[in-house]
Amino acid sequence: MPQQHGQVLTAECVSKLYRRGSEQVAALNDVSLTVNRGEILACVGPSGSGKTTLLNILGCLENPTSGRVKVYEQIIVDEKKRLSEWALTKIRRQVFGYIFQKFYLIPTLTVSENVMLPFVFYRKHDAPADVDSILRFVGIEHRKYHLPVQLSGGEMQRVAIARALVNKPSVLLADEPTGSLDSTRTEEIGELFKQLCRTEGIAIVLVTHNLHFAQIADRIIELRDGKLSRPS
Ligand SMILES: Nc1ncnc2c1ncn2[C@@H]1O[C@H](COP(=O)(O)OP(=O)(O)O)[C@@H](O)[C@H]1O
Ligand SMILES: [Mg+2]
Repeated sequence: MPQQHGQVLTAECVSKLYRRGSEQVAALNDVSLTVNRGEILACVGPSGSGKTTLLNILGCLENPTSGRVKVYEQIIVDEKKRLSEWALTKIRRQVFGYIFQKFYLIPTLTVSENVMLPFVFYRKHDAPADVDSILRFVGIEHRKYHLPVQLSGGEMQRVAIARALVNKPSVLLADEPTGSLDSTRTEEIGELFKQLCRTEGIAIVLVTHNLHFAQIADRIIELRDGKLSRPS
């Protein structure tokens, strides 16, 4: 992947319809945006406005009903074409780090093992050293051998961030990454995100309800009923 490229993600006229019984819900309605290398883009908007859907489509976890998504100029999906599941899996693994709204930590694994999980599958060899430095980076090193149940919400959040970073993604997608945190922890996560952009050139797309937290972003977009209500 050409990591030095300016635009890492592009959505062009993306719409997503969900069927709900006999009804159709337009979760996204003609959304176009770009995400550049090393920038933080925040997406705000009321509940149900399409934020998670947008994040999932940008992260190649879901297909749009229409429109085009590109990752580093490579077309993932458009009217004519859709990458194979095999190719998508490779892109998800090489390009993206995902922080889901629920952390999805495995309760029977330690912090360190949870973080190492993606590594175990993809990059067996240099796992231990890398994991330690990532744990240090997110400030959770001292909890390495603890189980999720022994952690605070803020600590679990850090573990989820560490796990998203373990494959050295070039794009971090974060759905409500400070959802359950107090303002001090929220600020710490903000600093961490800014540092990732500065030092690693990672692009971050974050979805948040917290307008104050959104201020860490270089750009803020707003979704309302599946439509962008601010230019991106
Ligand atoms: N899998 C699904 N099936 C049907 N409707 C869905 C599905 N996912 C989301 N929706 C609907 O799409 C709209 C946008 O949802 P979502 O992207 O989760 O919004 P947000 O993250 O902003 O709360 C909502 O009306 C939601 O109910
Ligand atoms: Mg959501």
